[in-house]
Amino acid sequence: MKIKSADFVVSNTNVAQCPSEPIPEYAFIGRSNVGKSSLINMLTERKSLAKTSGRPGKTQLINHFKINNNWFLVDLPGYGYARVSKKDKKTFQKYITDYFLERKQLLSAFVLVDIRHEPQPIDLKFMQWLGEKSIPFSIIFTKADKLKPNAIQREAAAYLTAMTEDVWEEAPPHFITSSTHALGREEILEYIDGINKAYHQEQNR
Ligand code: GTP
Ligand code: MG
Repeated sequence: MKIKSADFVVSNTNVAQCPSEPIPEYAFIGRSNVGKSSLINMLTERKSLAKTSGRPGKTQLINHFKINNNWFLVDLPGYGYARVSKKDKKTFQKYITDYFLERKQLLSAFVLVDIRHEPQPIDLKFMQWLGEKSIPFSIIFTKADKLKPNAIQREAAAYLTAMTEDVWEEAPPHFITSSTHALGREEILEYIDGINKAYHQEQNR
């Protein structure tokens, strides 16, 4: 899929104020600093469409970006960032969980995990929650450029095996990415394109 346009639409902390257009939507979620905003810039080939930072906690709002005028990418705040204020200390902030529970347009979530790390309890907990709520998701392994080529497949396979030994009968779809090297870009865009097409076919029946 070619990206012809990528436009910032709106930011907020209230799912009720998110754009009302009933077009397909995909959201990026994961621990702070895992590379969600960088991935959105990589996918759209726009250097600073989404704001990124070396310090965790950069994205604080639900950010909607409209792609090719017919679907949304959503950049979300990270979870698991220890230095948030006491008031915000809940593991998953309510406006984030409300977003997932109430956003009818959301066709699939992408849970980002750093390929260098073993499965972290907070990520497994979030994926389990998505499963319980029947929200489709896939896993995006980020920062693959930080590993030697022969370690990349091995680490990803070990992660997915750990998941299936734990609560999951089957591993979710997964993608291996590097935002600095545009690795995984085509695969993710094709995956989204496939879901968009199935959605439109269903609408036209
Ligand atoms: P929050 O908004 O704080 O939740 O973080 P985020 O998940 O949006 O992460 P962000 O995209 O801001 O990236 C965090 C840091 O990781 C930045 O310093 C990025 O440059 C770096 N980074 C992101 N993706 C990659 C990658 O694929 N490879 C490398 N080497 N660094 C990356
Ligand atoms: Mg961010």
